[in-house]
Amino acid sequence: MTDSKGWNWKELEGEAKRIWQEPSIEYYYLANRWKNEGFKNALDLGSGLGRHAIAIAKDGFKVYAFDIAIDGMNELKEVSEKENLNIETQIGDMINLPYEDEMFDAIFCYNVISHQDTEGVKKVIGEIKRVLKAKGECYLTLQSKSTWGFKQAWPVIDENTKLKMVPGPEYEVPHFYADVKLIEELFKDFKVLMLRHVEDNFQKREDGYSSSFHYHMLIKKD
Ligand SMILES: C[S@@+](CC[C@H](N)C(=O)[O-])C[C@H]1O[C@@H](n2cnc3c(N)ncnc32)[C@H](O)[C@@H]1O
Repeated sequence: MTDSKGWNWKELEGEAKRIWQEPSIEYYYLANRWKNEGFKNALDLGSGLGRHAIAIAKDGFKVYAFDIAIDGMNELKEVSEKENLNIETQIGDMINLPYEDEMFDAIFCYNVISHQDTEGVKKVIGEIKRVLKAKGECYLTLQSKSTWGFKQAWPVIDENTKLKMVPGPEYEVPHFYADVKLIEELFKDFKVLMLRHVEDNFQKREDGYSSSFHYHMLIKKD
């Protein structure tokens, strides 16, 4: 299995950083859904600067924020203490979560689990299953093989995984790219409530245009 590597959040500033400080549009639907389900706690897995952890806490859930990157977590802690939010932070590697079995009603995992190789992604999905309560839900995204990055001549880790070689916060961070067949196999132990293929980042580059595609999934533990 490849070495885990988190984001270097110090590489981001200005507008490039600001987009990681506002909740994604999907969050608002999920907050409403999870309140209606009567959920009380949530894990923000791979919390980054904590844009979702903060929003979830403000929406009244007990929140656990987990990430391997210390500098991002320090920024979250600062906001959480200043605003007196109910967030428990923890640094660690998602392939081995430090939480009890069946601890969480909900897990929010936005643009995170693809930062592993194939073996690592399988381990993380196993950890999600372990820490989620029965009938608990997880929203997650996975990089798609339609993404520009999958076609680049970057170092290959395994048939689905490359090391991203673009300067910035995710330089040399592993990227796992999925397709529907792989997804079916990876999530066979869950009920898939929703699966969408989204083009969510469109950029002009020197060598043309590039797009990021992600699979967005809402899964439920039976
Ligand atoms: C694209 S950022 C997303 C952050 C956050 N989910 C959001 O939507 O704002 C990916 C995050 O995953 C974290 N990460 C990558 N590999 C990890 C690992 N092995 N264990 C825990 N966190 C990891 C990175 O450090 C980074 O903060």
